[in-house]
Amino acid sequence: MTKMTNFPNDFLWGGAVAANQCEGAYLTDGKGKSLVDILPTADFGRWDALMNPKTAEQKTYDYYPSHESIDFYHNFESDLELMAEMGFKTFRTSISWPRIFPNGDDEKPNKAGLAFYDHLFAKCHALGIEPLVTINHFDTPLALLDKYNGWQDRRLIDLYLNYCEVIFKRYRHLVRYWLTFNEINMILHIPFLGGGMDVSELTDQAALTAKYQAAHHQLVASAKATKLAHEIDPDFQVGCMLAAGDTYPNTPNPADVLEALQANREGYFFIDVQARGYYPNYALALFKEKGIHIDITEDDKASLKHTVDFISFSYYSSRLVSADPAVNVETGEGNVFKSLKNPYLPTSSWGWQTDGVGLRITMNNIWDRYQLPLFVVENGLGEKDELTPDFKVHDDYRIAYLAENIEQMGLALKDGVVCWGYTSWGCIDLVSASTGEMAKRYGYIYVDRDNAGNGTNQRYKKDSFDWYKQVIATNGADLEHHQEVVQ
Ligand code: BG6
Repeated sequence: MTKMTNFPNDFLWGGAVAANQCEGAYLTDGKGKSLVDILPTADFGRWDALMNPKTAEQKTYDYYPSHESIDFYHNFESDLELMAEMGFKTFRTSISWPRIFPNGDDEKPNKAGLAFYDHLFAKCHALGIEPLVTINHFDTPLALLDKYNGWQDRRLIDLYLNYCEVIFKRYRHLVRYWLTFNEINMILHIPFLGGGMDVSELTDQAALTAKYQAAHHQLVASAKATKLAHEIDPDFQVGCMLAAGDTYPNTPNPADVLEALQANREGYFFIDVQARGYYPNYALALFKEKGIHIDITEDDKASLKHTVDFISFSYYSSRLVSADPAVNVETGEGNVFKSLKNPYLPTSSWGWQTDGVGLRITMNNIWDRYQLPLFVVENGLGEKDELTPDFKVHDDYRIAYLAENIEQMGLALKDGVVCWGYTSWGCIDLVSASTGEMAKRYGYIYVDRDNAGNGTNQRYKKDSFDWYKQVIATNGADLEHHQEVVQ
């Protein structure tokens, strides 16, 4: 019997990566340094470096995982062929800003960098894959940290717009879907990756102000880029991108419910501005309460009116908060955001909890709030994989996670949510953003490389490769793991 699908025929199935985590070739063909190029792996103090980047910049670490990464720069053709074999309709990647403008404020773009993405996007099209491009995925040129302290400085808006103009015009006939900033709310949690800035020497109050000021500059830059994109090509579809995942209250105690409301607003604040075109009252009230003074000009307010066409987001799990300090003692890990451990949910080897139903809830909430098409541009399970002597990876745990999440996404569509597509995170193994490890793998394609850079860099298909191929071929109708498929 043919199974029913909840997905429309033109649903864009695919996978996602980011330049800074897969390309490697960190100084090749005139590229400047990216933020991640000064970071070691977790075992050698990555978190400390993320929080104190200017100090990290002065240090010499034994190994920098981003410098070679999986060398997607030199392997993109065969990697994309594997993705096409799975049936990808879309491929999300980012353009490395320092590959185009090595110092961020150079007069002319780097021709070799531009040529690389010509080839990459052309190859996508040759394989029938629609590129979905993040303009800035944790990839502000490092030189802008040194010269301007990153997005704290208003001048970053024009530098970013200049970069946008170059890539919009250059790739106009190759790229239609654009995302202005990856996980724009991440700037509040990891200001170095999100905003290319170092706040380590500021008081908490000053750091909070600096982060919101930088966030404001990004919001203005995003709106101006959206306007520019539509002027250059009215067919461009420009989206914002949120690190999503609804925050649940720990109990029905109204104090907990209020705490959850406020935690959700911390992320929605960004999308409220990008989708509605103005600052929500609760944000202005918060700034007043916390004594945060932000420079917002009349011109900024006018610019913010250029809102996005769709809303994209990453979803790994839900979160849990309590208003009770006694309960807040032990927090679980989970994509950087503070969260209590939810006793109803399983936990991965890296302490991230998994919650498929939470994806359905999150999608419904975002849709109800904005009534704009959604795009799930990150979702997945970072786990340890074992390459067997006959070069197989039996990742049934990953298949189970993805099947549950895709099923719940289908139910959200059935609920009436409009969603254009789904690109699971790290479709090919790459360097983890938070830990710098290769061992934290998300892919359908295994890359033989370890945390210290050892390995052949060969690619191998995991069991999930054939499984995802079947999911795409059946348009999400068949999520079963048919063992015979993988033998
Ligand atoms: C998202 C980022 O926060 O989560 C990605 O957009 C990141 O860049 C992904 O890789 C998974 O996080 P991690 O830390 O496991 O790589």
